[in-house]
Amino acid sequence: MSEPRGTFSNRLGFIAAAAGSAIGLGNIWKFPYEVGENGGAAFLVIYLLFAFLICMPIMVGEISMGRNTRSNPYGAFKKLGNKNWAIVGFSGVLIGVFILSFYNVVAGWAFGYFLQISFGDLLQQSDYSAYFSNYVANVGDNLIFSLAFMILTALIVIAGVKKGIERWTKILMPLLIALIVGLIIYGITLPNASQGLEFYLVPDFSKVTANTYYMALSQAFFSLSLGMGAIITYGSYISKNDNIITSAALVTTADALIAFMAGLMIFPLVFFQGIEPAEGPGLVFVSLPAIFEAMGPTLGPVIGGSFFLLLCFAALTSTVSLLEVPTAFLTDETSWSRKKSVIGLAAVIFVLGLPSMLGQGAVSWLTEFVSYGGETHSFMGVVIDVFSDVGLPLGGFLISIFVAYKWKVQRAADEIEKGNQKFRGSLSEKFFNIVISYVSPVVVGLMVIVIFLNKFVGLDLLGGL
Ligand code: TRP
Repeated sequence: MSEPRGTFSNRLGFIAAAAGSAIGLGNIWKFPYEVGENGGAAFLVIYLLFAFLICMPIMVGEISMGRNTRSNPYGAFKKLGNKNWAIVGFSGVLIGVFILSFYNVVAGWAFGYFLQISFGDLLQQSDYSAYFSNYVANVGDNLIFSLAFMILTALIVIAGVKKGIERWTKILMPLLIALIVGLIIYGITLPNASQGLEFYLVPDFSKVTANTYYMALSQAFFSLSLGMGAIITYGSYISKNDNIITSAALVTTADALIAFMAGLMIFPLVFFQGIEPAEGPGLVFVSLPAIFEAMGPTLGPVIGGSFFLLLCFAALTSTVSLLEVPTAFLTDETSWSRKKSVIGLAAVIFVLGLPSMLGQGAVSWLTEFVSYGGETHSFMGVVIDVFSDVGLPLGGFLISIFVAYKWKVQRAADEIEKGNQKFRGSLSEKFFNIVISYVSPVVVGLMVIVIFLNKFVGLDLLGGL
């Protein structure tokens, strides 16, 4: 029957795990290409505002819901709300399943790059853009590496929250940060680096459209692992003595800092090589190799290989959090054991990811899957649009409404107060209440409508706002 639920060993364990969940491909792969596609520095500014002013309070809400109910998202909405709200929690579980399906494919690319840079001939290419397009269309490698990645994720999730999730993050994350700092320093000494820094750091608000706001918001949700209950799930494992406010602030800051640094690393390299900033999802894979190549035949493979290997670890702590959500759902709500749940889920999610993997050039109808909003989208593009870009902000909107008007901010405050006696009457309480009750429902709600029309109908409602 049901096994006891795990807990994190201490507060740092939760912060490490939540930061590990947040920091991943979202920061280093997705964030730079979103910045590149959405006008550079202005996107960065809007992104940071949304992350701290809207997403951080939603994170506080998610952690509180999880700790109060000691449940997965479905169970949390059911206990604090009712059967109808439980549908919202269940949808979050499904969103996690779909996000993991494509995320695991991209993680497989990073793993392949690690191997090809360290042991193959990747750094002897002349055209890294062509190399990337060929690489992602290569079924054999992708199948093996993404399967390997899913198996690794499953093994860690089977080991459970404490042993599996906490440990890796604390050791490997600092190494990744050190390497990024090194690459930033190297990059800014290159010719044309200053153009890259200007693109990334000097905002030009005339480039901003409704789409910029929206993409910044959905990227903030994605990067912080918010909007589908991953943080509710991790919150369900923390102790009553933990300070939810400072935990959320630390995780948000760490995540934003790494994304910011990833941009500082990438854009000098992009302008140095004359790559189009709006290159799209291949941006990191196309812009980094030339730098490793320039480091020479000995150092290049070592530094380049280490970078992609550490990126894989960052991705792994994120895939673990994504798989943990449906696993917690099955173990909490059914009589399935943890092991059986993980194996079943990993198999299903891997299969769900196959069309995303094959739609990168290998299979043409999946590559050019559908057209809407005036553009043709690959299968992976549709999954990202629906589940991440629309699904997560919609989830965040519903979480705010739920906490403010169903569960009620006073009850959330009771929960927050347990690890933070000074919370009542504090400025952070006021800030939390205002954002959860008014700012988030209005801003996020509006954005969801705007983006839905923009993406699927091709209507830019707010024009050149
Ligand atoms: N935040 C992770 C990243 O930036 C990805 C991720 C992990 C995620 N868990 C999530 C995204 C839950 C959305 C929801 O790479």
